[in-house]
Amino acid sequence: MDKFIIQGGKKLKGEVNISGFKNAILGLIPATLLANDKCIITNVPMISDVYILADIMKKLGADVFLNEKNNSIEIDTSTVNECKASYDMAKSLRASYYLLGAGLGRFGKSEVAYPGGCDIGSRPIDLHIKGFEALGSSFKIEHGIMHCEADKLIGDNIYMDVTSVGATINIILAGVMAEGKTVIENAAKEPHIVDVANFLNAMGADVRGAGTDVIRINGVKELHGCTYSVIPDQIEAGTYLVAAAATEGDVVVKNVIPKHLESITAKLKELGVEITEYDDSIRVRGNKKLNSINIKTLPYPGFPTDLQQPLSVLLTKANGTSIVTESIFEGRFKYVDELKRMGANIKVDGRTAIIRGATPLSSTKITATDLRAGAACVIAGLMADGETEVHNIRHVERGYENIVDKLKAIGADIKKVSE
Ligand code: UD1
Repeated sequence: MDKFIIQGGKKLKGEVNISGFKNAILGLIPATLLANDKCIITNVPMISDVYILADIMKKLGADVFLNEKNNSIEIDTSTVNECKASYDMAKSLRASYYLLGAGLGRFGKSEVAYPGGCDIGSRPIDLHIKGFEALGSSFKIEHGIMHCEADKLIGDNIYMDVTSVGATINIILAGVMAEGKTVIENAAKEPHIVDVANFLNAMGADVRGAGTDVIRINGVKELHGCTYSVIPDQIEAGTYLVAAAATEGDVVVKNVIPKHLESITAKLKELGVEITEYDDSIRVRGNKKLNSINIKTLPYPGFPTDLQQPLSVLLTKANGTSIVTESIFEGRFKYVDELKRMGANIKVDGRTAIIRGATPLSSTKITATDLRAGAACVIAGLMADGETEVHNIRHVERGYENIVDKLKAIGADIKKVSE
């Protein structure tokens, strides 16, 4: 088991380059199944979730070449004859559920084990199923395996009563080659939904309206391969913005789409952090004195649940009481116990955390309970006095490319060691 050792108290200074968006590439890789051809994807983050998904594609029979040197992946799915992903294949990441929609779209049939992923709540998939059924697929779960099958997929109107990123993408994947028109209402609007739609359109699909709450898909008979570049990771970017502010540093976060980061930069400004936006970078200058603020996580363009944990760590530095409401996932406050052991004054009541500051954090051994909780632990270590050990860092490595090197390059004292 590996861990991070961080000597805290160093101000971050310099420039950091943001990688391709984890949540987008995790949709694009399964989407290549629909091409029955070769796709080349660039700006791919080399993170463990990508390695796992690339491996799943190989096991399905695809020809996969992951080029770590130039951050690209080539996937030829013309050699795949069916879409069956076992428990061992699907257990470690949530995005394995996209194989259900993509397999259904390509073969009219898919069998995928119930997905794993971060333990942040119950995470039902009823909306995915409702969408597949509306398109004419049957659905059953047997021995932990989800089975979808349709003689023919036919477009329909699907209204989502809860806005779900995963269900929106999965229904798009199943719908692109369905006969006729599929309309998704109350669709999620996250940037990676637009990225998946753009990728599919580059493959010959006709998906319109992605990024709004109504997505219209005109089914096409077949798709083909394409070359495509992944958008920057807004959650990784937000994490570095918070880390820079937390250490009272001065950092330029490069290769970002500032528009995608408006909900986080607005909150940082409210806190008293200095933010300067450029075309594709953001400069953040931290401040010793921060104001308390309130946050409520919401679907995009609201404040992202994935940045709730990192930003909450910064709130321990703010003077006064901050209230954080987590409205997306009920289990996203597990990191609070770790912060309390470092001296934070946080009370969790259901879906609300009340953070009283400013309280300095004192270093100790802490454990990452999930991916973004892991990012929060790293930021806490950067802020704390003395040496912090972050355990269970496999969670962090699922989603942050070269985090140790990137942080070291901007002045952090962090190393990865094997226990
Ligand atoms: C995706 C992201 C994750 C992010 C989350 C919310 C990926 C790989 N993961 O997760 O990083 O935290 O969006 O922005 O892109 N729900 C249902 N029924 C369903 C599906 C979802 O009730 O069938 C509920 C969930 O319990 C949750 C809400 O909808 O309360 C949003 O979940 P969803 O957007 O689906 O999250 P994921 O796609 O799993």
